[in-house]
Amino acid sequence: MIYFSKPFITNLEIKEIQKVLKSGVLTDGFYQNLSEKIIKKRLKSKYIALTQSCSDALELSCLLIDLKPGDEVIMPSYTFTSTANCVALRGAKPVFIDIKANDMCIDSDQIEKMITKKTKAIIVVHYGGKCMNLNKIIKLKKKYKLYLIEDAAHSFLAKYKNKFAGTIGDIGVFSFHETKNLVGSQGGAISINNKKFLRRIDNLLDKGTDRSSFLKDYKKQFIREKPRKTKSKKYYSWVDIGSEFRATEIVSALIFSQLKKEKIISKKRRTIWLTYKNFFSKLNNDQISILDNENKDHKNSYHLFILKIKSLIFAQKFREYLQKNKIPATFHYVPLHSSLFGKKFKSGDMKVTNNIWGKIIRLPIYPELSKNQIKFILRKITKFLE
Ligand SMILES: Cc1ncc(COP(=O)(O)O)c(C=O)c1O
Repeated sequence: MIYFSKPFITNLEIKEIQKVLKSGVLTDGFYQNLSEKIIKKRLKSKYIALTQSCSDALELSCLLIDLKPGDEVIMPSYTFTSTANCVALRGAKPVFIDIKANDMCIDSDQIEKMITKKTKAIIVVHYGGKCMNLNKIIKLKKKYKLYLIEDAAHSFLAKYKNKFAGTIGDIGVFSFHETKNLVGSQGGAISINNKKFLRRIDNLLDKGTDRSSFLKDYKKQFIREKPRKTKSKKYYSWVDIGSEFRATEIVSALIFSQLKKEKIISKKRRTIWLTYKNFFSKLNNDQISILDNENKDHKNSYHLFILKIKSLIFAQKFREYLQKNKIPATFHYVPLHSSLFGKKFKSGDMKVTNNIWGKIIRLPIYPELSKNQIKFILRKITKFLE
């Protein structure tokens, strides 16, 4: 059986989750703390919190930048609903921009003409495992005093030069959903890079309470050998808006186990990705090109392997053929600007997005996809192209 994606779960995850269940600590415990520390160190981030999803982390980001009704946020149309929902949930407006054909990330050259007095932020999506070059967007951010949020749902540990995706703008968000490279069942993380947001982030994560500073004081009191008079908090209470955004201990233990296996997961994904790339580079078929984001400046996370097909009819036939042969090949997003809910928002010229979205084919990629299964996929593709 070939899947489209499959989490790489072994005894390690089972053992760590059993430890959580036996401990009786199911929230805010050892694994949450440890996973956050590991990610923070690895990404060289100022602050990391695990969340229940990347969607949650995006919603948190919009709370942090204090998005209000009437504000506008620039983003690509070619993305998942969560990138825009976090904006619409605050009563603000997504403004959709085209992507570039070569990397399918937002076209930085189309942004400036869509900036208005109401523009408050830009959300970029590091698509498919790439960390896009943000230099031009950072110039715009400075010129117009905008916030920059990086949706790195696909691109945990991807890099542009020496910086990790999600650590370049003001805020970065990641997904550990079942379909992603590292999984926490449903899970995510937020990285704060702009110090100004550090004051509120824990309150927002803790349902609008000052619980985390209360806990810090509480711990301080208990580790002192000689109790001293202290101004420590005696209780925690409602100090801000917020919600239940934090990842549970079970999810955090899963993420911890996956972080431990991250090198082997990356290596296996890279091997599959390169096998596909090698095959398609030798094909010389003018209908098929691949989304190849890797070069000396861009370190990929190998999240997706994407074929870009020239003709729509060819793409449809190819996809149907693969599916008939039990190879789950799929297209990706329906562009938000053309969706039922997204139509009402402003958008720029969408030439590339409109042209490209129906002609995408994503091939299966996951650590347990065996050599024989890959051979089978490539044999079937060869047969189709004969
Ligand atoms: C670009 C992008 N952002 C956000 C999300 C939402 O991630 P999650 O399922 O962790 O909420 C996804 C989901 O795949 C996505 O593709």
